[in-house]
Amino acid sequence: MNKFSSNRAQGIKPFYVMDLLARAGQLQAEGRSVIHLEVGEPDFATAQPIIDAGIAALQQQHTHYTAALGMPALRQKIADYYLREYGLEIAPERIVITPGASGALQLVLAALLDVNDEVLLSDPGYPCNRNIAQILGAKTRAAPVSADTAFQLTAEQVDAHWKSRTRAAMVASPSNPTGTLIAPQALRRLQQCVAAHKGFLIVDEIYQGLVYSGNKFTALQLEEEDDNLIVINSFSKYFGMTGWRIGWAVLPERLVEVVDRLAQNLFLAPPTVAQHAAMRALDADCMAIFDSRVEAFRQRRDYLLPALRETGFKIGAEPQGAFYIYADCSDFSRDSFSWCHNLLESEAVAVTPGIDFGEHRAGDFVRFAYTRPVEQLEIAVERIINYINKNQ
Ligand SMILES: Cc1ncc(COP(=O)(O)O)c(C=O)c1O
Repeated sequence: MNKFSSNRAQGIKPFYVMDLLARAGQLQAEGRSVIHLEVGEPDFATAQPIIDAGIAALQQQHTHYTAALGMPALRQKIADYYLREYGLEIAPERIVITPGASGALQLVLAALLDVNDEVLLSDPGYPCNRNIAQILGAKTRAAPVSADTAFQLTAEQVDAHWKSRTRAAMVASPSNPTGTLIAPQALRRLQQCVAAHKGFLIVDEIYQGLVYSGNKFTALQLEEEDDNLIVINSFSKYFGMTGWRIGWAVLPERLVEVVDRLAQNLFLAPPTVAQHAAMRALDADCMAIFDSRVEAFRQRRDYLLPALRETGFKIGAEPQGAFYIYADCSDFSRDSFSWCHNLLESEAVAVTPGIDFGEHRAGDFVRFAYTRPVEQLEIAVERIINYINKNQ
């Protein structure tokens, strides 16, 4: 530990999977063919029309700062997207453009939380939320969730865990690491329950569009007047633009002004070239490219889910979105961290241990990211079976 860094910074946990990734790199350098199922980003390149739009933006010298909340044209285009895809009229002034969903999460938590305030979230869940709150001097209260509730927070849990300093509850649908959704009725109950506590409900929809069953849905469809709903989204996953660092949030009107001031100070503005490229991503021809990729992800899930179950992993809640399967490996090991390391050493397959997503039964779970083609998934499953047989 670096004794010169702040206590808050020292308390930030590492991503354990990064060690694994470094080791996978070494193994690759030694000539082994590692199959990467640990990486949480699409393997597809950014679609060509988006790259062309980025190049054109550079050639047209769009290299200066924009407004802190983003280009009005992009905010309008996202509003048009909600109208076209969901029939929703969202005022573009409520849409703020951010450096990835990560930027949106930082802005929103900074806008809501004072030192020692709390935000309620699920364990397992997306780990950065906990760390962002901690950097702000705030706290997280993690409610353990299981397959019984599709690994999602429920209104009953919110009631049980809400304290006087709790300001907000956070959920993600589809979720990382479980790929599970919150049903609209359950989300409605959550929202009403959080509203009764006079808090905000933050819904992370970064995997929106990467859903393999049911109708298109956004939490914004639940909005009523004077809402307490904050929706986070991003061009990273469905739109395939992870490295461009561009996302957005839809805020209740009363939060926009403070978020503007925070954005001015934290980021000045979201990346300009990425904003121009993102404008193109929302056009129908690009959306058709993304939808064909969703089909590829569906095929991967439809292969991997039964294959893992046959291998002996328990997967209690059906992963219906994102590109993750959170599998119970407790019949093989209750120390998923060591299990993942040994799997990598022995069979050159990289998966993420549960410990990266929280503490609740973390040793019993591993996350598979099906961000590789089916042919590679098939080899990975063969290798995993091999590994399990060797170690029984
Ligand atoms: C649930 C969730 N939210 C937010 C993010 C941040 O994504 P980005 O900053 O690339 O938009 C991720 C990234 O994996 C995620 O899984």
